[in-house]
Amino acid sequence: MPDLNRQWLLKRRPTGAVTRDDFDYVTSAIPEPGEGELLVRNLVISCDPTQRGWIAGDTYLPAVKIGEVVRSFAAGRVVASKNARYKEGDLVQGLFGWQDYVIAAHGREAAPGPVAPGVPLETAMSLLGMTGLTAYFGLFDIGKPQPGETVLVSGAAGATGSVVGQLAKLHGCRTIGIAGGPAKCKMLVDELGFDAAIDYKSERIGARLKELAPKGVDVFFDNVGGEALDAALARLAMKGRIVLCGGISQYDGDRSGGGPANYLNLVVKRGRMEGFLILDYLKRAPEGVAFLAERLLAGKLKDRIDLKHGLENAPETLQRLFAGQNDGKQLLRIAE
Ligand SMILES: NC(=O)c1ccc[n+]([C@@H]2O[C@H](COP(=O)([O-])OP(=O)(O)OC[C@H]3O[C@@H](n4cnc5c(N)ncnc54)[C@H](OP(=O)(O)O)[C@@H]3O)[C@@H](O)[C@H]2O)c1
Repeated sequence: MPDLNRQWLLKRRPTGAVTRDDFDYVTSAIPEPGEGELLVRNLVISCDPTQRGWIAGDTYLPAVKIGEVVRSFAAGRVVASKNARYKEGDLVQGLFGWQDYVIAAHGREAAPGPVAPGVPLETAMSLLGMTGLTAYFGLFDIGKPQPGETVLVSGAAGATGSVVGQLAKLHGCRTIGIAGGPAKCKMLVDELGFDAAIDYKSERIGARLKELAPKGVDVFFDNVGGEALDAALARLAMKGRIVLCGGISQYDGDRSGGGPANYLNLVVKRGRMEGFLILDYLKRAPEGVAFLAERLLAGKLKDRIDLKHGLENAPETLQRLFAGQNDGKQLLRIAE
């Protein structure tokens, strides 16, 4: 175990793609927990597109301040506890940041949450964590797919999208994924059971949708925005629903984007477009975890994890999301 706390601090707000130069890599003394607090050794860090927003400015959470530890979800082991609810060795997760050690306490941003017993940390941070829950609640609560309907997913080979497509298929829907490159598109059909895939890097999404969904798209689960959203709006079926999960194609810019074209088709098709945040569903997390765990154990759902190693590689591991280099849920293991 290191005898110092390595930390990545925010040096400046990125204006384009995130680079290593946006951060400072420093060491400080390992902090001591006070009354009610825990000292947690971070073990696995979650890499999420939303971190780009957290360091750029205020979003649904206040912006990370310059000089503060970079915010991220992480899971780790309690190494010292001054809180009767936790003991040394317990596994916990929360907004623990890019650092070896964190002081966690209830009522703080770094509040400890449980890790289900017997679940590997990687799974707890992926299919049975925020990622799987985002797919589950976004698809079923907002998208409300019916068996036989056509569900389109953008970012389909990514962490959230790959779960959405599998869930929609298990629910009896026809599923179409949009992803970048032939390898990802082949994987969607051959390994995850999508009915079809569109390679947005070499194909026109709108033209392909005309062929693949001649009666239109009933549910579009959007992780990407931009061209994908425009194309789906144009091909929306009557009473179609668009689930706004994210818009990664917009994150490296100033997010002003110009707005979607074809939105008036929502009027013609009596459609609905609705955003959601998984943070609003945390009270219902046990329901989602139980649903997902049952299907994972039955071999009906695959948890695709892309694991990198070393806290020193945190910026480059985050960058992978925006370059489409991740193959499933991007995680960073920083200690065994
Ligand atoms: N609403 C919520 O509560 C919530 C919670 C979690 C995540 N999200 C959102 O869900 C989306 C997916 O997040 P994730 O964690 O599952 O990440 P992810 O999909 O595993 O990784 C991001 C993927 O986005 C694609 N991408 C990157 N830049 C792109 C661009 N310019 N145009 C098109 N595709 C691009 C890449 O795939 P390709 O190789 O296919 O391009 C990349 O693999 C994000 O928008 C995120 O903000 C929302």
